[in-house]
Amino acid sequence: MSDGLTDDRPAVRVSAPVCRVEDLPDGASRGFDPLGEGRDTMFIVRRGDALHGWRNHCPHYDNARMAWRKDEFLSGDKSHIVCGAHGALFEIDTGLCVIGPCLGDHLTPVPLAVRGGEVFLPVPYRPGLRPRAGRGQR
Ligand code: FES
Repeated sequence: MSDGLTDDRPAVRVSAPVCRVEDLPDGASRGFDPLGEGRDTMFIVRRGDALHGWRNHCPHYDNARMAWRKDEFLSGDKSHIVCGAHGALFEIDTGLCVIGPCLGDHLTPVPLAVRGGEVFLPVPYRPGLRPRAGRGQR
């Protein structure tokens, strides 16, 4: 039974790479839809050689998606991840909210593995969270 904030659908092993490292310029963010759900359920931020994967839902409110525009997950100065709904700022490497209504909460990490220049999801991936019943999809 789902409480609306969790999801009972099973995790799925994703064998195909989500992208190539070279597809992610240093300092960029990009959303991905590993299960073909029709929306970006995760995103990756590249900083130098480091890749940081996060689920695309904000801990503040009802599984809100975060990008204010396709692939725009970062603040203007690219120093933080930003939620486009209410402007919460999160550390890129830890997912900690440092400014905003969910101060102290964390984004949900997505483990990544790089092999041969390709980025993989090394652990089974859960379908994207859906809004609670009675709320519109955002
Ligand atoms: S939904 Fe993200 S800050 Fe409110």
